Amino acid sequence: MRLANTGGLRHTETMNYAQLLSPRAVAGVEVPNRIVMPPLVIWQAGLDGLVTEEHLAHYRRSAGPGLVIVEATAVSPEGRLAATQIGAWHDGQTEGLFRLAEAIHHSGASAGIQIHHAGGRTSAEKNGGLPILVPSITAKTPADAHELTEDQILGIVTAFAAAARRCVEAGFDLIEIHGAHGYLGSQFLAPSTNHRTDRWGGSLENRCRFLVQCVTAVRSAVDAAAPGGGAGRPVATAVRLGAADGSDPRLTVEEGVKAARLLVDAGAELLHVSHAGSMPAVAKDARWSPTMELARAVRASLEGAVPVIGVGGIKTPTEAESAIAEGVCDLVAVGRAMLADPEWAAKCVAGEADQINRCIDCKPRCFHFTDPAKCPPRKRREK
Ligand SMILES: Cc1cc2nc3c(=O)[nH]c(=O)nc-3n(C[C@H](O)[C@H](O)[C@H](O)COP(=O)(O)O)c2cc1C
Repeated sequence: MRLANTGGLRHTETMNYAQLLSPRAVAGVEVPNRIVMPPLVIWQAGLDGLVTEEHLAHYRRSAGPGLVIVEATAVSPEGRLAATQIGAWHDGQTEGLFRLAEAIHHSGASAGIQIHHAGGRTSAEKNGGLPILVPSITAKTPADAHELTEDQILGIVTAFAAAARRCVEAGFDLIEIHGAHGYLGSQFLAPSTNHRTDRWGGSLENRCRFLVQCVTAVRSAVDAAAPGGGAGRPVATAVRLGAADGSDPRLTVEEGVKAARLLVDAGAELLHVSHAGSMPAVAKDARWSPTMELARAVRASLEGAVPVIGVGGIKTPTEAESAIAEGVCDLVAVGRAMLADPEWAAKCVAGEADQINRCIDCKPRCFHFTDPAKCPPRKRREK
């Protein structure tokens, strides 16, 4: 039975998730349904950023999404958020990444991985005493941060490409460049963190140059390592784009939409739309969360050039189905709700959505950041 009013956001166990459960190809990569597990760091890396058994168990538990994007994976040691973050900055890390991709494939999903540099959002304590590198020194950058030189910027672009190559060799189907949430890509794009006057700052085109160059470099590394380069299978290049923020001065939605076009022109084959470090304001009567509204704006402007993932506040399969049906996005990422119930997608696929244990939006911060054992605080089923 279908919901009489498919525009409604209330859950019903009788909902038919026809669109959510339909397949979608992303640059030749088959994604069996539109449910995405977005990157969610679990702070379980071993020494030297290696994948551990805890990672394998965590990703095995989360079967059901059509696309699983592995958590932020550092492209260089100084870009780490924490010593417990996994990495792809040397060849010794490839074996663990291979096991991770294999575990995800075993569950029937396509395997993506997010490659990441924290820029100024780290500390010497967290990155092992290495330099903290930022586009510009501002009132908010750590006191011991260094402004990136031209050579250092190009070195990080090369590190993104090398990390992408390792991830393709490890068997991943999609490489997502982290360009959101106030990390290095966002720090370049957002006017509040980029005060440079050279070719990496100023105009939107200049502020977007770092991400554009990352896309170009990653795309060539992927193309060299994948079809014709030996892997013999399609591998997609994606960007998690922080398309706007609420800082002063703001990165506006109009700029985010233009950045999206620049990234697609540079070769990005999927955009995963989020915020650039702080939530942008949305109209009081907005139907969706601020980041979902951003996905809607980006998707509308791209007119189908590439698929768009929407994310932010989705708790129920009914909401996810509505987002696809209304054309907000092509795929829907479900973050905290999937941490609260790793079987969120599996239950949806099995027609048991009423069995999903509900994420209750812990405040001030999701428990998974601080004490995962407390998530979910109590079992609560969808109503
Ligand atoms: C515990 C936790 C870890 C996260 N780790 C990452 C990450 O590694 N990379 C990233 O881009 N976003 C990360 N995020 C953000 C999520 O991917 C997602 O965008 C956010 O939680 C909003 O979606 P939701 O409302 O469905 O949870 C994290 C969020 C949480 C709660």
